[in-house]
Amino acid sequence: MKLQFALLPGDGVGPEVAAEAMKVVDKVAGVFGHEIDAKDYPFGGQAISRTGECFPTETREACLASQAIFLGAVGDPAFDHLLPQERPEAAILGLRKELGSFANLRPVVAQYNPSYSLFRDDALQDVDLLFVRELTGGLYFGEPRGIREEEGQLRAWNTLVYTAHEVERVARVAFEAAQLRKKHVTSVDKANVLEVSRLWRQVVEEVSSDYPDVALDHMYVDRAAMELISKPAQFDIILTSNLFGDILSDEASVLAGSLGLLPSASLGGRVGLYEPVHGSAPDIAGQGVANPLGAISSLALMLRYSFKLEEEARAVELACQSALEEGYLTADLVGRDEAKSTNEVGDFIATAVGSLK
Ligand code: IPM
Ligand code: MN
Repeated sequence: MKLQFALLPGDGVGPEVAAEAMKVVDKVAGVFGHEIDAKDYPFGGQAISRTGECFPTETREACLASQAIFLGAVGDPAFDHLLPQERPEAAILGLRKELGSFANLRPVVAQYNPSYSLFRDDALQDVDLLFVRELTGGLYFGEPRGIREEEGQLRAWNTLVYTAHEVERVARVAFEAAQLRKKHVTSVDKANVLEVSRLWRQVVEEVSSDYPDVALDHMYVDRAAMELISKPAQFDIILTSNLFGDILSDEASVLAGSLGLLPSASLGGRVGLYEPVHGSAPDIAGQGVANPLGAISSLALMLRYSFKLEEEARAVELACQSALEEGYLTADLVGRDEAKSTNEVGDFIATAVGSLK
């Protein structure tokens, strides 16, 4: 089969980890008999430098016409002075919106507990959860928004808004995912304060009646932040809004061992978008030390969801797991003298994929 996708390496460590994912997908193609058709396009800060725009028309059109999109990372402190709509981050927000990828899946599995971790091994036992984060609404996109001078001082505002329809469709994704897992959805909101959360809760309750085999509970976001760390194994699916999901998924990455391990899939639109959860990490960019596992695991999700290649996806995931088990680790997981480079870990995984078939 032909695996056609748009490649957006982006900023910071994005190109480094995307290169390792490409190495692995090339190997998958060779071993399982597929053909790769991937072209890269400017995106984020890299696109601003090259074209003056963070999300050039050429990139937009290529993405919309693709079978899938693979993204490294966006964000560059060189553009911190720009307005929100001009920054590199505007590219990813615009892409998500344009694709209609309203459901962001972020699996968190406690697979590796670094020696410096504050968690005891037994606290991480059975931690295997999945965030279903709403991705194209909420505070990130609500209007009106702005900043201006009023009565001699600056005033800034954003709007938190969800329609019942936006809540319903992402809730269905969560319940359907739960049916294939431990059949438990925890919906996270702030219904003790926010009207938007009251609507969220009401709609999630209504949707749940279509999934009688799935248990539903609700949790306030402040409590969820605490429970994620104190009793993480209680969670199966965490269904939440755009902003809460952004914050809680970074927090939960500590359970996995490192933010560098987490993959994501953004679904719901015609074209799936796959990216590691970690950002551009400008502090370590260009040093060959970034963890490529988040990117490579995102590639596995691309094979699974966009190309329906479950066996290939599993092979990539098993290869990632063997890197962790055999101690083939980057500097976010072990001391620098023991650590392998981005490139070495990518090579290891490509070789492991080859030996799995
Ligand atoms: C993420 C990132 C993005 C977000 C940024 C880069 C806009 O933090 O994917 O979690 O906030 O959604
Ligand atoms: Mn984030």
